[in-house]
Amino acid sequence: MKALVLAGGTGSRLRPITLSAAKQLIPVANKPVLFYALESLVAAGVTDIGMIVGDTADEIRAAVGDGGDFGARVTYIHQERPLGLAHAVLVARPWLGEEDFVMYLGDNFLFGRLDGHLERFRADRPAAGLLLTRVDNPGAFGVARVDPGGRVLRLEEKPRRPESDLALVGVYLFTPEIHEAARAIRPAGSGELEITDAIQWLIDRGRRVDSTVISGYWKDTGTLDDLLEVNRSVLEGVRPRVEGEVDDDSEIVGRVRIDPGARVVRSRVVGPVVIGPGSTISDSYVGPFTSIAEGCRLEDAEIEFSIVLAGAGIRGVGRVEKSLIGKEARVERAENPPKAHRLLLGDHSRVRIAP
Ligand code: G1P
Repeated sequence: MKALVLAGGTGSRLRPITLSAAKQLIPVANKPVLFYALESLVAAGVTDIGMIVGDTADEIRAAVGDGGDFGARVTYIHQERPLGLAHAVLVARPWLGEEDFVMYLGDNFLFGRLDGHLERFRADRPAAGLLLTRVDNPGAFGVARVDPGGRVLRLEEKPRRPESDLALVGVYLFTPEIHEAARAIRPAGSGELEITDAIQWLIDRGRRVDSTVISGYWKDTGTLDDLLEVNRSVLEGVRPRVEGEVDDDSEIVGRVRIDPGARVVRSRVVGPVVIGPGSTISDSYVGPFTSIAEGCRLEDAEIEFSIVLAGAGIRGVGRVEKSLIGKEARVERAENPPKAHRLLLGDHSRVRIAP
C-alpha cells in the first residue's frame, strides 16, 4: 500500500500565519502538523509516500527532505494549481500505479493510530474506506449519510442543508477503482474536482464504500481557538524531559520538555509546556498548554495557553494568553511616554488589547 499525502493549497483560513508558511507546517507542540501525518503512516507500515506539492513546494521539501528522517521514502509530485482533491489523484496516477493507497490531507490532525483502519480495509477491500467524525458544523466538510452497518449511501461536499453531522475526515483508503471515478467526474460549482464526487460516482455504480466513525480529530477551521485546543491536547501527552539548562532560581512543575540549548533563568514553568532548542526564558512565567518554538526569547514576560513560533521575542509584558505569536514577531513594553500602543501588524492580523 502506498500513501498520497496532500501538501499543496494556500491556507487562507489561518492568515496571516499562512502568508509566510505552508499550512501543513504550522506547529502543534513544536512539530508541524504534517509530521504527525507522516509518523502515523510510517507507524502503520506505509513508507512509500507520494507528496503532492504546489506553491509552497520548496518549504515542504526543506522540511521533509527525502523522508529518511521519518523512515519513509518520499516522492514529490507537483500539482500546478490546487484544482481539487480528485485532481491530485489524477496528477498522481502514474506514480500510484495499480496499488491500493491511503490519501492523507496534510493539514488534518488525527489522534490515534491508523493500523486498525488499514487492516480492516485490506481484509474487506471495499472500493473506498472513509473515516467520519461528528461535527457541529457539517456544512464546512464533506458530509456522509450511512446505513447502520457503516456503508456509505450518499456523500455531499459542503452542503447547505447537511443530511447528517458526519463529516469526512481527510484520510481516505482507496483501491485503484478511484482512478476511473476521478477521470469520469466534472468540476463542481467550486471549480474543483471534488474527491467527494468521485466517491459518490462509485456509490452510484453500486460499488461498496465503507466508513468508520472516529473521535479525536482536528482540521484547521481558521479559528485560533481550534489550533490552541489541539496544541493543548497534544501537550497533555508530552514526555517530560529537561535537556536544556535550568538555573537554581527557576522552578519547573509538571510535564515540561526543555530541548537542548534552551535556557530557563529565574523563571517558573508550569506544564504541560514545550520549550524549543536555543530558546531563552528569563525572569518569566510560562504557564500550562504553551508551546515555545526554537530560538525564542522571553524576558520579564508572562504567557500561558499559547503558541509562540520560531525566533519570536516577548519582553516586559504582563499576562499574554490564548495567543499565537508568529515567527520573529516582537511583543514589547513601550518604555517611554506617550503610553500608546504601537503596532506593526501583518495582513489579517488580530490583536486584543487589555487596557
Ligand atoms: C476537504 C474535503 C472535505 C473534507 C475535508 C477534511 O475539504 O473536500 O470533504 O471533509 O477536506 O479536511 P477542504 O479542507 O479542502 O475544504
